[in-house]
Amino acid sequence: MSEQAVAQQAVDKAVRFLYLSQEDCIKAGGLDMRGTLEIIEKSFTLHGRKDIVQPMKPVIRWGGPETEETRGRIMTMPSYLGGDLDVAGVKWIPSMPQNPQKYGQPRASAVIILADPNNGFPLAVMDGTIVSAMRTGAATGVAAKYLARPDSSVVGVIGAGVQSRTQIMAINGVFQNQLKQVKVYDLNEEKTKKFADEMSRELNLDVVPVESAEAAIRDSDIVVTATMSTFPYVKGEWLKEGAFHSEISFWDTAPEELVNYNKIVVDDFEQVSHHGVDVSYRAVRDGFISEGDIHELGKIIIGEQAGRSHEQEKILFNPIGMSIHDVSEAYRVYQNAVKLGIGQKLSLWEQAYWT
Ligand SMILES: NC(=O)c1ccc[n+]([C@@H]2O[C@H](COP(=O)([O-])OP(=O)(O)OC[C@H]3O[C@@H](n4cnc5c(N)ncnc54)[C@H](O)[C@@H]3O)[C@@H](O)[C@H]2O)c1
Repeated sequence: MSEQAVAQQAVDKAVRFLYLSQEDCIKAGGLDMRGTLEIIEKSFTLHGRKDIVQPMKPVIRWGGPETEETRGRIMTMPSYLGGDLDVAGVKWIPSMPQNPQKYGQPRASAVIILADPNNGFPLAVMDGTIVSAMRTGAATGVAAKYLARPDSSVVGVIGAGVQSRTQIMAINGVFQNQLKQVKVYDLNEEKTKKFADEMSRELNLDVVPVESAEAAIRDSDIVVTATMSTFPYVKGEWLKEGAFHSEISFWDTAPEELVNYNKIVVDDFEQVSHHGVDVSYRAVRDGFISEGDIHELGKIIIGEQAGRSHEQEKILFNPIGMSIHDVSEAYRVYQNAVKLGIGQKLSLWEQAYWT
């Protein structure tokens, strides 16, 4: 074999992947909520059709489920999506509640690996922090598209943290030019004011701080609870007739309050039950509602289950968060990065040492 052929063979044996920092992800359209809403709706559809593989996620924690808001946790979330996506991946996501106060860093940080399911080799290793926040917002956005009243115009948000930003971006993306006001409440008054100012400017929306959770919830068409609360404070009676409530955090609403809703929708009840923190799981466990009362959004999207059936219906959406959303959103960003030549190519090996 000529020297050139040997060199060529070595090149062909190389396994390379793209490294994308958070800055790269943003350059590659990571903050494009329209794109995120599209891919998240698509992955909900694949979930409804069962064209996915999504094992239960292991959670490292230093106590029971109730310690996650105080001591923290690290989750590992793997999945594969079929259809024309045909991609596998995993998100590693620590949640450290003290990070904002202690280090001025976000509570959650994430790393995602995307892989080609045909040979298993990595396509990308990338920041998953933006991906994760964007997909969580989009899950609420897609749920609101199917479950909120189409004339929704007032939104109440509890929590002025990272997730609340993407929750508002996604709801605004679905109800374009229709939102009249977004009310925000957080235990931290100063943070609420800053959040309201920034979100008003960024989205050209009327985002105002309010003095209580009740004030944020009453008279709102759409309610989001996205906090690190360790105690329940939501009263079902505060919700107006026809309201849609997305509870993406875990302890805000007490299990007994779920009898006030006409419909409870989750992303994946097996995943919800496995993690054991969501109020929808605890309400079934404690006998306030039955498992038969629980709907899944993917099944609603493909028409297997009914969505909103009348204007007065109060609907709770209570997702635990699915790996397929992380992997599909990360793949969208990765594909943009490849097209735009963004990121750093790294080598896993130039030629495998053992074959
Ligand atoms: N279901 C999902 O898919 C999913 C995905 C991502 C995050 N989450 C959850 O969303 C929640 C918020 O995450 P984040 O990244 O925005 O956290 P964050 O730390 O950035 O913000 C949380 C905010 O909640 C506020 N808060 C705490 N208790 C409160 C209370 N009783 N009333 C009002 N405000 C209160 C804090 O002051 C803080 O500003 C977390 O519980 C996280 O686990 C869920």
